[in-house]
Amino acid sequence: MIPEQLSAERLKLRPFTPADGKSVFDYWNSDADWARFNKSVPDEYSEVDAEKFVADLVLRDRESQPNWALVIDGRVIGVVSLTFEQDHRIAVIGYGIHGALRGQGLSGEAVKTVIDGAFRSYSMLQKIRAHTDSRNTGSIRVLEKLGFKREGILRSNQFVKGELTDEAIYGVLRKEWSD
Ligand SMILES: CC(C)(COP(=O)(O)OP(=O)(O)OC[C@H]1O[C@@H](n2cnc3c(N)ncnc32)[C@H](O)[C@@H]1OP(=O)(O)O)[C@@H](O)C(=O)NCCC(=O)NCCS
Repeated sequence: MIPEQLSAERLKLRPFTPADGKSVFDYWNSDADWARFNKSVPDEYSEVDAEKFVADLVLRDRESQPNWALVIDGRVIGVVSLTFEQDHRIAVIGYGIHGALRGQGLSGEAVKTVIDGAFRSYSMLQKIRAHTDSRNTGSIRVLEKLGFKREGILRSNQFVKGELTDEAIYGVLRKEWSD
């Protein structure tokens, strides 16, 4: 299994606990980007939404859907999650970080740490995929900087905040990844 605790240069990664709902609410309740590009996030983000988000992560099976709270100075500031497919040969990655801490390379650092851990933990894992709204420039930059390649666009593929938007698919293969 991929370790529950991971360390990056500036971040610690650990499992979420139900008590993290408050931190998640604090960093996402007024975050326009979080609400804008995520179909499951309501515009008016409430403490109950944050608690549900955390509860869902806590309840996920760590073998098939591991996830980590990103922590700086004891404070939860973001999330990275993986969903394994096809007997751990492929994984899909998701991530998000506190609005006030963006543009410092922290998401890239966290995503790299999780992918390093995933390739090390599962020798059969051959590919990591990411799906993002094609308008989500920040997310696309994170992936491209790490060496992900654009594999295609699914046109009008997700209904987000009243409109059908294009979904961009990115991927990186084990043989392209160096840790
Ligand atoms: C997308 C997101 C994770 C990026 O986080 P981040 O910590 O700012 O990313 P990084 O600092 O690692 O940035 C990596 C690169 O992207 C660039 N970048 C980040 N946000 C950007 C934006 N909105 N527009 C253009 N470039 C952006 C950074 O400048 C950096 O590039 P550079 O080193 O060449 O300057 C963050 O904006 C977020 O949490 N958004 C809401 C949740 C979300 O959309 N998650 C992705 C779902 S697939």
